[in-house]
Amino acid sequence: MSARLASVTTYRRMGDADLASVVAIESAVHAHPWTRMNFADSLGAGYHCWIAEREGQLVGYGIVLVGAGEAHLLNLSVALEWQRRGIGTELTHFFAKLARDYGAEKIFLEVRPSNSAARALYASSGFGEIGVRRGYYPAAEGREDALVMELRLQ
Ligand SMILES: CC(C)(COP(=O)(O)OP(=O)(O)OC[C@H]1O[C@@H](n2cnc3c(N)ncnc32)[C@H](O)[C@@H]1OP(=O)(O)O)[C@@H](O)C(=O)NCCC(=O)NCCS
Repeated sequence: MSARLASVTTYRRMGDADLASVVAIESAVHAHPWTRMNFADSLGAGYHCWIAEREGQLVGYGIVLVGAGEAHLLNLSVALEWQRRGIGTELTHFFAKLARDYGAEKIFLEVRPSNSAARALYASSGFGEIGVRRGYYPAAEGREDALVMELRLQ
């Protein structure tokens, strides 16, 4: 008898060799994507840059900066064809645990008010909205505010 197993997400550190695949996903899922240089700088700066894989494919990634008891989730993205399968939720929990393991008491992020998918993801992962940064993001016309969200880790 055979059973169909749900695919499992595995994680590994991002490296220079991943940048082409990461940038391809980034460009497909963001209207205002990070550049290859942004990712290379994050790797060079020693930020926590991680890849999520399923079935041997790169399906998502994220970048978090941890310091002085706080963490900042700088990027979290899931490849278009892998969205709505729980990977964003798993990555969020992965980074919350990582931040806690490195001594952070809370984790922050910015999100566009128009990004209802991400806002729903973060709300369902326990983040609360704590403020607004005016004109934080470039937008099609002018700038867009950022909502600041926080998750307490302890
Ligand atoms: C936001 C993002 C990371 C979500 O990843 P995901 O793997 O699809 O998320 P999940 O499958 O874990 O979804 C968790 C919950 O978030 C919400 N959600 C996710 N995508 C949604 C969408 N397109 N519309 C509405 N709600 C959505 C739902 O409540 C969902 O739960 P459900 O599927 O049980 O209804 C993904 O859409 C993405 O990469 N978007 C582009 C990059 C981006 O905006 N990153 C965040 C920047 S702050």
